[in-house]
Amino acid sequence: MNVSHETWSSRFVFLMAAVGSAVGLGNIWRFPYLAGENGGGAFVLVYLLCVALIGLPLIVAELVIGRRAKQSAVGSARTVAREAGASGRWVVVGWLGVVAAFLILSYYSVIGGWLLAYLPMTASGAFTGVEGAAVATRFETFLGDPWGMTLAHALFMAATVLIVARGVRAGIEQGVKIMMPALFAILVLLVAYAAVEGEFVRALSFLFTVDFSRIDTEVVINAIGQAFFSLSVGMGAMITYGAYLQRDTDIPSASVTIAVADTAVAILAGLAIFPIVFEVGLDPSGGPGLLFKSLPYAFGHMPLGAAVGALFFLFGLFAALTSSIALLEIVVSWAEEHRGWKRSHAAALIGAVVFVVGLLTVFSFNILPRIAGLGFLKIYGEDPNVFGLLDLLTNNLILPVGGILIALLVGYVMRPEIVREEYGADPLFGAWWALLRYAVPLAIAVVMVFELARPFFA
Ligand code: PFF
Repeated sequence: MNVSHETWSSRFVFLMAAVGSAVGLGNIWRFPYLAGENGGGAFVLVYLLCVALIGLPLIVAELVIGRRAKQSAVGSARTVAREAGASGRWVVVGWLGVVAAFLILSYYSVIGGWLLAYLPMTASGAFTGVEGAAVATRFETFLGDPWGMTLAHALFMAATVLIVARGVRAGIEQGVKIMMPALFAILVLLVAYAAVEGEFVRALSFLFTVDFSRIDTEVVINAIGQAFFSLSVGMGAMITYGAYLQRDTDIPSASVTIAVADTAVAILAGLAIFPIVFEVGLDPSGGPGLLFKSLPYAFGHMPLGAAVGALFFLFGLFAALTSSIALLEIVVSWAEEHRGWKRSHAAALIGAVVFVVGLLTVFSFNILPRIAGLGFLKIYGEDPNVFGLLDLLTNNLILPVGGILIALLVGYVMRPEIVREEYGADPLFGAWWALLRYAVPLAIAVVMVFELARPFFA
């Protein structure tokens, strides 16, 4: 079905939406704990290389596909392949994206719900003067209660649906215009606080001192997976947002802005969190709970902590929401086109199904922490439950495969003149083209082979 989509009302608002999609839980929750678990500086170094050499070229490639075809990830993949006289089977690029977005959103919303739940808790002064160990226990108790988490997950999902249902201009644009500036302002405040109150120098050395012996295939695959997740590439988010782009937007410079802003927020989040982790004596490799144990403690011990802490969770929530709307938009734009559904109906229906699937992640932290048959996940450093499975499946498998296919689609299938036209006059075309055709697919493939072969080494 030929649906004509809305366009962004300005270049700047597109950038806010795209940066909003990139900046999210990946930066403020996942990056710090992955860095903590994977050796600090070693991980950060590999991560930066992955962003520059793999992630950035792929953002450009996705925007090129999207703006060329002006359709959903599925429709766009098919259109650009057909236009080049290639097989319609390239549509699989779009399908992988829709499936990944759906699965990621199902757990993303659960973690978004954690932020939502922590907002009133912090505001009410529940952490004021409370000791570190007690703050950690509080988080464990929260995870142990499936009801509270389900409620928070439902509210987060409902907010996402309400925004996306209103459309690109009336929904997504209005949302990011309010949420993005606020997010940046509060992050700067938090880093300043960490610099004054926490062990800032130790955090700097943790994040930037590289112990090369820590770099192994697991660190590399985690860094690639995180680069994909954090930059929102490999699953058609940038194809989807690129489809709403107007001709006057320069794709290479927009892509650099997205990658730089996203990386800066990840590092700043690390610098807001680790000084406090060290100050309090928490373990930096504390896993997914890191954010929810260190920050409430810190807020409990600073002047106006309850208010500032609530503000942090509010803006963390904004970061998560500007990402979850992108995830839902990937699926909704497909449903509008291919199922002919009205946007508001598509958003509500898909949101409801995502909510139900998300319950499996809720249960992963309490009633179903271990599922027989998922024990193999431990080899990959994941917990043997649905959350672990989804994390591995999406970030370490579907997104990298999606990345390879996107690189091949733009690098080999699309006609070079068309790619060139979308890319524009930027002088770095040759470098980008070479990265996309050779380095990106090869690097991802090699790392994936090592990753998949891990059980044989273990
Ligand atoms: N980039 C987001 C984050 O770092 O939290 C996650 C994400 C959002 C991935 C939107 C993909 C996407 F389409």
